[in-house]
Amino acid sequence: MKPNLKTLVSVVSLAVVSVINVTATTGDYIRPAPRKNLQFPWSPKHSSHPQQVHISLAGDKHMRVTWITDDKSAPSVVNYGMSPGKYNSVAQGESTSYSYLLYSSGKIHHTVIGPLEDDTIYYYQCGREGPEFKFKTPPSQFPITLAVAGDLGQTGWTKSTLDHIDQCIYDVYMLPGDLSYADYIQSRWDTFGELVQPLASARPWMVTQGNHEKEHILLIKKSFAAYNARWKMPYEESGSSSNLYYSFDVAGAHIIMLGSYTDYDEFSDQYSWLKADLAKVDREKTPWLLALFHVPWYNSNDAHQGEGDNMMASMEPLLNAAGVDIVLAGHVHAYERSQRVYNGRSDSCGAVHITIGDGGNREGLAHRFKDQQPEWSVFREASFGHGELKIVNSTHAFWSWHRNDDDEPVRSDEVWITTLRSSGCILEESRDLRKLLLQP
Ligand SMILES: *[C@@H]1O[C@H](CO)[C@@H](O)[C@H](O)[C@H]1NC(C)=O
Repeated sequence: MKPNLKTLVSVVSLAVVSVINVTATTGDYIRPAPRKNLQFPWSPKHSSHPQQVHISLAGDKHMRVTWITDDKSAPSVVNYGMSPGKYNSVAQGESTSYSYLLYSSGKIHHTVIGPLEDDTIYYYQCGREGPEFKFKTPPSQFPITLAVAGDLGQTGWTKSTLDHIDQCIYDVYMLPGDLSYADYIQSRWDTFGELVQPLASARPWMVTQGNHEKEHILLIKKSFAAYNARWKMPYEESGSSSNLYYSFDVAGAHIIMLGSYTDYDEFSDQYSWLKADLAKVDREKTPWLLALFHVPWYNSNDAHQGEGDNMMASMEPLLNAAGVDIVLAGHVHAYERSQRVYNGRSDSCGAVHITIGDGGNREGLAHRFKDQQPEWSVFREASFGHGELKIVNSTHAFWSWHRNDDDEPVRSDEVWITTLRSSGCILEESRDLRKLLLQP
């Protein structure tokens, strides 16, 4: 009995020491230098060969398959099935293209397939040409794992982050803005599409836009031309009139993707859509409620200080009234996690805000945090990495952040998060919710 207890005590103290170590090493961590942009050698392909294949959730039990061909007459069809090489289903889609100054895009195909079984591997071919791809649909129930990293770009660190995400078991990848860092050079969208294809053709990529997607030229080019053509998200499926904001359900989570660079004031379309979308959420069906957007509202880094304030003033009361559990943002090239917060302060019925704009882009890291760490800020560090949110059941989720330590993914921050619903914030009966969401 006694030795056993001793062993137990030493195991527990070892665990405590390692927890302390994880926190303590943060200050001594030597940050790696930015890495160069990746080089993409030109690889000639048959002109109807599918390129840049990616998939995204498109309404209940459906998936949108997107790819590009140089050949403008290539068909927008996807053949698919549950065994390799055996395609007993076929779907016809739509296509688009765009030009940007001297650049003309290939034919961009968007084909929705389904209904699909949950948690099942499908094999598919795009436009009856090229290799077979495969993906797994998300499960209909918990557990479900979301991989998250914003501000990706296409550098050596992007590659490191993507390799780490590829090593983990996850169902959906979530990107809170800033994808390719094309920044007006349209061929960089194409190299980005090729870079992410191995991951993005295998699991749904759900993205929202950041400032690097704008590519606006006064009087010549409207914002988000390339982004909207290439990364069509399920906005029509979620009753939105713009690709810049939409929502979807996955397992028992309702996830809202907002636009930091489109109107958000209370007279805007985005605001009306958000209010209507929140009013429809059924917490019995989706006990978890998440929101993603690019510019963080809770940020103690020197970079981009205050940029989210206006959107926060407009939309935080809505998200709070509806009981959003977790908010994920990008933009700041560092990692920061808050306590539950609302209205600028810790609040036991507020959301946990996480900034994870550290995917690995060429601009490098945002090293300087404000000297005084705000009371709501729990963990902050400027390193590249990715996050994983494992939603275990209707009340508990495990969040971890994995720093790219050289080329190893090192779990550096972790926390259990419980739903507001299970924490005594009786949202369904809240007067604020009714007042905000149900009034015309
Ligand atoms: C949910 O998961 C947590 C963590 O594993 C566990 O403690 C809790 O009992 C589970 N709740 C239900 C309702 O299964």
